[in-house]
Amino acid sequence: MQQKIIITIDGWSSCGKSTLAKQLARELGYIYIDSGAMYRAITLYFLRNHVDWTHPEIVHEAMQHIRLTFMSNHKSGQSEMHLNGENVEYVIRDLVVAEKVSEVAAIREVREFAVKQQQEMGKNKGIVMDGRDIGTVVFPHAELKIFMTAENEIRVKRRFQELYEKNPNITMEEVRANLEMRDYIDSHREVSPLRQADDALVLDNTNLTIKEQLEIAKKWVVERVPGS
Ligand code: DC
Repeated sequence: MQQKIIITIDGWSSCGKSTLAKQLARELGYIYIDSGAMYRAITLYFLRNHVDWTHPEIVHEAMQHIRLTFMSNHKSGQSEMHLNGENVEYVIRDLVVAEKVSEVAAIREVREFAVKQQQEMGKNKGIVMDGRDIGTVVFPHAELKIFMTAENEIRVKRRFQELYEKNPNITMEEVRANLEMRDYIDSHREVSPLRQADDALVLDNTNLTIKEQLEIAKKWVVERVPGS
């Protein structure tokens, strides 16, 4: 049997990390974990419960009431985010959550909470996880680290199309402002900012189709899996 590895995919918002991660996981029979969903679910909890996250002691108390689990959807086979037993996979994609998630994800206690669970999920390898700090902090010894990027306008258009299907009132300007703000906060925060790991392979998909980017990543996997 082929040895299983850990694959990390980090990069800017909306550059197709989850699309690639899901496809790779499916092809390899690996688990796929969307680490951003965890930060989004915590943000949703804070918003719903009016948690003032500027106070560390209030955050600490609130974190005691948060239980995050990924559960597989019987129909699609995709893993979905559950917050205290409720399926929140759809609602965490809302712009209301996207507008606050970078602030919440910058809080040290929130990151420690999420990273501990992420490391636990990877302890048997055979996992593809996407996010911002997966190759640098969560799995610094991962066998394959991919850093994804794409031109800004392409990312804005892709995210706009995705959100427009759910909410036709959304504007391109709102989407652009949100992406720029998140990229800035995610890459400038004090605790584990988004950065490319020294040993990451860069995948710029500005001019690539989904199929082409998958082929490139699969080639990298073959190079990294011992004995393949
Ligand atoms: O991947 P995403 O857009 O769903 O992530 C939502 C936010 O969560 C993103 O703006 C930054 C944060 N995040 C993070 O700080 N670290 C991760 N590993 C994943 C996401």
